[in-house]
Amino acid sequence: MQPVRKAVLPAAGLGTRFLPVTKSIPKEMLPLVDKPAIQYVVEEAVQAGISDVLVITGRGKGAIEDHFDRNVELEQVLERSGKTAILEEVQATDRLAHVHFIRQHEALGLGHAVAVAEPHVGGEPFVVMLGDDIMVDDATLLTRMLDVHAETGGSVLALMEVTPEEISAYGALTGEPVREGVMRARGVVEKPKPEEAPSNLAVIGRYVFTPGIFDALRETEPGVGGEIQLTDAIGILLEREPVFGVVFSEGRYDAGKKVDFLRANIELGLARDDLRDEIEQMLRTLVRARGLT
Ligand code: G1P
Repeated sequence: MQPVRKAVLPAAGLGTRFLPVTKSIPKEMLPLVDKPAIQYVVEEAVQAGISDVLVITGRGKGAIEDHFDRNVELEQVLERSGKTAILEEVQATDRLAHVHFIRQHEALGLGHAVAVAEPHVGGEPFVVMLGDDIMVDDATLLTRMLDVHAETGGSVLALMEVTPEEISAYGALTGEPVREGVMRARGVVEKPKPEEAPSNLAVIGRYVFTPGIFDALRETEPGVGGEIQLTDAIGILLEREPVFGVVFSEGRYDAGKKVDFLRANIELGLARDDLRDEIEQMLRTLVRARGLT
């Protein structure tokens, strides 16, 4: 079995849910505490043992490339002023992983963005990680998915139970349990209407794919919203190869939703030794001042 060595991070989306800030700043660069959201995703890949990362970018996404590049001038200034701790933090970013970039020239959908990665990942299995889903779980979910791939050789999707009202924001999966927390996928529908949803199991933005996904993508016609949907390609793939799902419930933040983005900021701050006490104090004061107890 070929090991999974590469991660693909689609980052070409326009970020309309976070306008006006995303007019000039890529949504992937919005800060969670003091690191851009995309850095948490790269760190998660590295934690799961994957250090080759391909970011699919588009127009206006240059800041992502700058972030993972060296900034020699900044390093010199920090060095001269003796700010060693922050210098190390800055240097760690470009040493974190081998980060590569390819542009998706037209925003034709998530499936199309993944197809753009084919020359880079070639004939190897790989993971796809969506930056809107921020996992704060020490890469537990991704590691479980890689284990199922290693065991079965099949593609693996991340699955989370959501409410019937929420399912129309996601790909919805049908299948049968293989064992506790693992499903064999039988069908998948992109953004079904609540009354038509085949299940309440949502596909969340972590995927392990065999190279078979590229053939499936080539055959995928535009779907919901006129876009080439990754979900539709998965529907083709599961007719040909076994596709599995790993069910999880903890550690995910939907960075595409404003309130969840704020929650992620607070909880990531609370996980930091240097900020915990101050944030707890701030929360206590806020709760009191607003009479929320
Ligand atoms: C995308 C996928 C969808 C998946 C979701 C996970 O949708 O198309 O199948 O359930 O990510 O976050 P988007 O959120 O880009 O609309």
